[in-house]
Amino acid sequence: MTTQSPSAIDWESKLAERAGGLYGSMTRKLMSVLADPEIISFGGGLPAWDLFPLDKIREVTDELLRTDGPLTLQYSTSEGFLPLREQVATRYRKRGFDVSVDNVMIVTGAMQGIDLVGKLFLEKGDAVVLGEPTFLTALQTFSFYQARFLSVPLDEHGMRIDRLPEILEGNDVKFIYIMPTFQNPTGRTLSLERRHQLLEIAERYGVPIVEDDAYGELRFDGDPLPPLKALDTRGSVIYMSSFSKTLSPGLRVGVILAPGALMEKLVFAKQIADLHTSVLPQRIVHEFLRRDWLDPHICRIVEAYRKRRDAMFAAMKKHFPPGVSWSRPEGGIFLWVALPKEMDTDAILDGALAEKVMYVPGSCYYGAGGGTNALRLNFSGYTEDRINVGIERLAKVIKRS
Ligand SMILES: Cc1ncc(COP(=O)(O)O)c(C=O)c1O
Repeated sequence: MTTQSPSAIDWESKLAERAGGLYGSMTRKLMSVLADPEIISFGGGLPAWDLFPLDKIREVTDELLRTDGPLTLQYSTSEGFLPLREQVATRYRKRGFDVSVDNVMIVTGAMQGIDLVGKLFLEKGDAVVLGEPTFLTALQTFSFYQARFLSVPLDEHGMRIDRLPEILEGNDVKFIYIMPTFQNPTGRTLSLERRHQLLEIAERYGVPIVEDDAYGELRFDGDPLPPLKALDTRGSVIYMSSFSKTLSPGLRVGVILAPGALMEKLVFAKQIADLHTSVLPQRIVHEFLRRDWLDPHICRIVEAYRKRRDAMFAAMKKHFPPGVSWSRPEGGIFLWVALPKEMDTDAILDGALAEKVMYVPGSCYYGAGGGTNALRLNFSGYTEDRINVGIERLAKVIKRS
């Protein structure tokens, strides 16, 4: 055992001002409960444990190392593995995006995309528009860059676009951050009409849109809607997505599709962040696309997630007391539960952990307070029977409170 002498350094005084804003992250708590297998965690955004295509990943990894080992282990270009960027450009062109390989950069998860955007655009006090509740990591990242949030409420059709003009009129806004499809944390989707309105308004005010489409490919019901980027004729949208939810988050492979004028800056920001995304995971994703393995895999997980979502709907209907309501997402991996107004989901979290069930309190998804009676549930991580057990545990905590 070592005894710790008092530190010679006053660390607090050395930290950058922006680090003062860092708050104890729920993400850390979420990851720490993974160590207890007894806890059913509806908290994290975890893809299904049981559906990773392990054999296929093993097969391509083995082959890559055997046939192209040194290149997969060497430093590489900041833009990403060229054949993967070409595949990504082709894939999105089929979905109506007006992009070429020059508009594509591979990033270390969409999270890095969010960070690079923050790094490039935000100075202290800059205004960012976002729909609340919103993605916790985006809030944390933009807070780190000392942004000021102008929040727009959501309804069942996503962000209230009708509220935008008054906000944009009175503020110099750096960008609008939005997850139009299966929004995290509510699972809600922006209607087609609102997508057109949003683009029109953003163009009118000359404000860029940062579109985060981490869940768009995970649709179980209803008709697909075009991402904003597919409707963007004026180059207003920076689009990001990821292979985290469609293949594996541990590979940390995401994409940014950006207007040409921005690419050089993005590549530079990436270069000083981590030089490039690890080559081996990029090459694994490339092989999945080259062998046409990704889309069948997505179909497989969509089938499974639909059943899991329905199992969660059924379990909530069966176990939750009256006065509790929830969103009805047509895809993605989350839904949003509203408890009666007087309840506080932060306060009952410890009770839930004692019952071996975890969720994320709604307040985490608001920059300036809100959501105290709400919580987010993830339905993709467990099989139907575990979902039922977890919801039963949670219902017990809610009833007791
Ligand atoms: C809306 C949203 N965007 C981005 C991400 C980050 O994904 P990645 O694993 O690609 O960094 C997530 C992950 O949970 C997310 O929910």
